Amino acid sequence: MTETELSLERLLFNLNTLAELGEEITSPKDFTRVVKSSLYMVMGSFSSSRGAIFQHENGSGSYVPIASKGLGDIGGLKLKLNDEAVSELLKRREPVDLSSGGAGLLGAARETLEKIDARVLACLTVKDELLGLIAINGKFSGEPFTVYDFQLLSVMSQHISFSLHSHSLLMKLMHKYTENKNLYENLRRIYYDTIHAFAAAIDAKDSYTRGHSHRVSAYSAALAREMGWSNDEVEGIRIAGLLHDIGKITVDKTIINKASPLTSYECRELNSHPVIGYEILSKIKFPWKGIPMMTRNHHEKVDGTGYPDRLRKSEIPIGARIMALVDAFDAMTTDRPYRPRLSFREAICEVRDNWNRQFDPEVVHPFISVIRKEVRRETDNPTIVPLLQEEIDGASLNRLLDGFPRA
Ligand SMILES: [Fe+2]
Repeated sequence: MTETELSLERLLFNLNTLAELGEEITSPKDFTRVVKSSLYMVMGSFSSSRGAIFQHENGSGSYVPIASKGLGDIGGLKLKLNDEAVSELLKRREPVDLSSGGAGLLGAARETLEKIDARVLACLTVKDELLGLIAINGKFSGEPFTVYDFQLLSVMSQHISFSLHSHSLLMKLMHKYTENKNLYENLRRIYYDTIHAFAAAIDAKDSYTRGHSHRVSAYSAALAREMGWSNDEVEGIRIAGLLHDIGKITVDKTIINKASPLTSYECRELNSHPVIGYEILSKIKFPWKGIPMMTRNHHEKVDGTGYPDRLRKSEIPIGARIMALVDAFDAMTTDRPYRPRLSFREAICEVRDNWNRQFDPEVVHPFISVIRKEVRRETDNPTIVPLLQEEIDGASLNRLLDGFPRA
């Protein structure tokens, strides 16, 4: 074979190797497999039996093996390079022949490379960053590495650098994503904790209504879910339920807890809480819509006799109509300063008697439906029935609900 033919054959071999390496690097396989097969290709191209790819370990100044062949377990091995060695390697760019004295620049890493019998070291670089190194031992044939070998290794290293760089960017992105996700979760927890603390502060003003805001919140969410609201909308009304009485924070405790009838002044004070609540909450940018208005209108009645805006039927936001029902239902089924709690039966009769006057049939029906499903154990997460202070018997519930007006 002539010299020209030999060169041509070598060129074709090199092109073929690079094409295969390019294909491997851009394949959707996982990173570990890509690095491993890239190393095998490099070693195959030079008939090396032992080799490893090292990657820069963030913050340590060391390079750790991420793929190896023929070296046994080298997981604990680290190539420590000082700044001088790194800058020298970056300056050179091309592979270093360790058998011809090139190892001098490597400092302490030289000993480690000798341990694994490395003969050639190639840099994996992007711009001015030494991302990693490829170390391989001598050719199986014992022949020395040629200029062409070094050129090929150099191009192969550039290909692998690209893969390493992409992976490193991806990892940084993932890390940032996880960091942001954790930050978001923390903020979310703080947000919810704050809202719960507000709800507890509201309920603490009234010795009789402890847990009222939580029950209104849970009942409203269960009802909204039954009515087909989206998860986001359900979350919104859950928060509105927790905060609906926030305006009571400004009302005198003695008025809230008064057992005897209120004077007209006291009544005005107490009835101001939806508007005060609205004013407080409308200044907050909630991620859910309608919370201030649900708060403002949770004492409206569909016949227009409620307060503060005396709205009628559909003029009242649907969320406020839900809360008006569950707020009244919870008030009925818990003790108050001025009367003991009603039984479940009495409360349902009260709802029925105020059907289409105080309460909107559009929400009463799904409310009854939720209770029926919970009593019949047809729902995975019962919400209303477990919070009631009495056992509900299925048969008597049926008799009670059968007499209910149809929508
Ligand atoms: Fe209220």
